[in-house]
Amino acid sequence: MSVLPAPEEKAASVQAMFDRIAARYDRVNRVMTFNADQRWRRELVRRIEIGPGDRVLDLACGTGDFSEICRATGAAAVGLDFSRGMLEVAGQRAPEGAWVQGDALRLPLADGSFDAAVSGFALRNFVSIPPVLHELARVLKPGGRLGLLEVDRPANRAVRAGHSLYFDRVVPRVGGWVGRDAAYRYLPQSAVYLPTQQELVRMLQEAGFKQIRKRSPMFGAIQSVSAVRA
Ligand SMILES: C[S@@+](CC[C@H](N)C(=O)[O-])C[C@H]1O[C@@H](n2cnc3c(N)ncnc32)[C@H](O)[C@@H]1O
Repeated sequence: MSVLPAPEEKAASVQAMFDRIAARYDRVNRVMTFNADQRWRRELVRRIEIGPGDRVLDLACGTGDFSEICRATGAAAVGLDFSRGMLEVAGQRAPEGAWVQGDALRLPLADGSFDAAVSGFALRNFVSIPPVLHELARVLKPGGRLGLLEVDRPANRAVRAGHSLYFDRVVPRVGGWVGRDAAYRYLPQSAVYLPTQQELVRMLQEAGFKQIRKRSPMFGAIQSVSAVRA
């Protein structure tokens, strides 16, 4: 049974879903990724060389995992999300953080005001990806670094079969138990919104990014993409 919202309802439905699951979001993430999700975030932050003096945007920050890792390097992070519920958890975890409620498709942020931007597991939740990438290019300085983390479908057919069993069958159940919400049925299905590698590269180039590189941890179940604002 499909649990994907109709296109015109997607933004409101995604926002309401994250408001609802916010309190248990971190616990479910750690269980479902065998605690590896923070390692993937740290590796990407290192790879795009976020450090002291950088002003970093954590786009669709959720409960603030990326922001926390960026701040630990000495950078200043601004976390933006449209879910009040997720931002409340972020604020409880890090009252010292800068948290902004806003829409990734219309960022309430000045042109060229960030040295770097990161976004974790959010691409498939946006109504449309190209306007978000254009907004990221707008708020980054020329030469600004971008890091995107998302789920992926492994290229290898054997790995893909095992992954499909886990992602399509186990994840919704575990999410349902630990997160106590049927929303986790949406997670595997939402992967249909993801562009192919070639499409994502084209979208990034059209938005004004260059030096696009991809790593595929977890046997290709995760994509970790870096790029530089031209
Ligand atoms: C799967 S969570 C990821 C949270 C966090 N980045 C992480 O790495 O765990 C996706 C987040 O995207 C946010 N989101 C989805 N669409 C958005 C939009 N148009 N503007 C701002 N935030 C959005 C949701 O509210 C949610 O917090």
